Amino acid sequence: MKNKATLFGRREILKGIGSLAGYGALSSLFGLPSLLTNAFGGENNSADSLRERAARKGLVFGAASGCNLLTRDKEFAARFAEECGMLVPENELMWNAVRPSPDGFNFGPGDCLAEFARKNNMLFRGHALVWHEALPAWFHRTVGDQNAEQILRSHINKVVGHYAGKTHSWDVVNEAIAPWQRQPDGMRDTPWLRLLGPKYMDISFRTAAAADPKTLLVYNQNHLEYDSKGSEACRNHTLNLLRRLKTGGTPVHALGIQAHLTSEDGKFNPQVFRKFLREVAGLDLKIMMTEMDVIDRDITNDIFTRDKIISGKYEELLSVALDEPAVIAVLTWGLSDKYTWVRNYFPRRDDAAVRPLPLDESFHRKQAWHAIARAFDQTNVSPSARKKAMIP
Ligand code: G3I
Repeated sequence: MKNKATLFGRREILKGIGSLAGYGALSSLFGLPSLLTNAFGGENNSADSLRERAARKGLVFGAASGCNLLTRDKEFAARFAEECGMLVPENELMWNAVRPSPDGFNFGPGDCLAEFARKNNMLFRGHALVWHEALPAWFHRTVGDQNAEQILRSHINKVVGHYAGKTHSWDVVNEAIAPWQRQPDGMRDTPWLRLLGPKYMDISFRTAAAADPKTLLVYNQNHLEYDSKGSEACRNHTLNLLRRLKTGGTPVHALGIQAHLTSEDGKFNPQVFRKFLREVAGLDLKIMMTEMDVIDRDITNDIFTRDKIISGKYEELLSVALDEPAVIAVLTWGLSDKYTWVRNYFPRRDDAAVRPLPLDESFHRKQAWHAIARAFDQTNVSPSARKKAMIP
């Protein structure tokens, strides 16, 4: 009888550990499948959320989402508000969404998201004022040498001005570096570069700063994370670009590192990434991880193993990133596997559902969620030592 009591006691202790430590620790400690670990309570303990864990360390955790998603899926909206302290529109502030015609602006969907953020005491960030994608049909037949600067300035003035005072930060220019295109200084061959030259960057940041002096102005870039020739070239050209902007007095306040991670193994080098973050911080810039997810198309189909590999990619990058005091925020590009761009852009070859994000399709916390939680909990940078998330 005694043995049974002891066994029962041990199971209760395990349950207690589970609810305290969160599922990830338990699943990794005891190899329990995430479904079972979700049974160990703690699911609705809001003090346990990524939003709370980040805030305790002077950081912000957030995600991208859409007006339709947060309006129509009430359960998702509730979990989003619980887990996120910041919201960024995935598509609603892109040129093709916010400026359907040269003189017409549609702020409805963006306002829907700004209001969701306000009602849920979340920070709101804008994405993206200048990009080579998501341009409206009228753009290429309307914008030319004579009017490019005026159209660029009017866009930034109108959009940033509309959200002035409500926006934590803006991705002012997105993905301007693409060394594989062999342009001078690694600049991407975009309509803006062709029409205005590299000064389009300075025009964009200066116009945004004038339209809202209280928002953090971010240069957002992809392909910065890995120890590869391509990423090394992106890092070097990005640093040179940031140095040029800063030296010229152009108001850029932060670098956005998109961090769309991939399944190829062995490409992340902590020393290389740490050195890069230090060099960016050395330019007196803050850093935001702006679009994290893991493209899992080439990772094993087995869900528990795949989730474990994906969580390892989140954790190995964030454990380095969060040790840099200049890093102020972590955002994922979506929050739940139910709503992710990866499904359409990088579908798995075996047609299995993709699993790139912290919550599964039923909004349960996955191993990736626990990896992000552990990174927040375990960073050695105190809130007082971390750069402040708000505008200087
Ligand atoms: O809204 C239209 C809809 O009316 C139409 O029926 C449908 C049919 O194709 O298209 C819808 O627009 C789509 C839009 O997402 C909204 O869902 C576009 O086709 C589609 O190209 C667009 O994809 C977005 C992509 O950027 C390109 O703009 C993705 O959702 C978005 O996640 C992705 O995000 C980018 C960041 O902005 C920059 N960093 C990389 C990241 C991933 O590519």
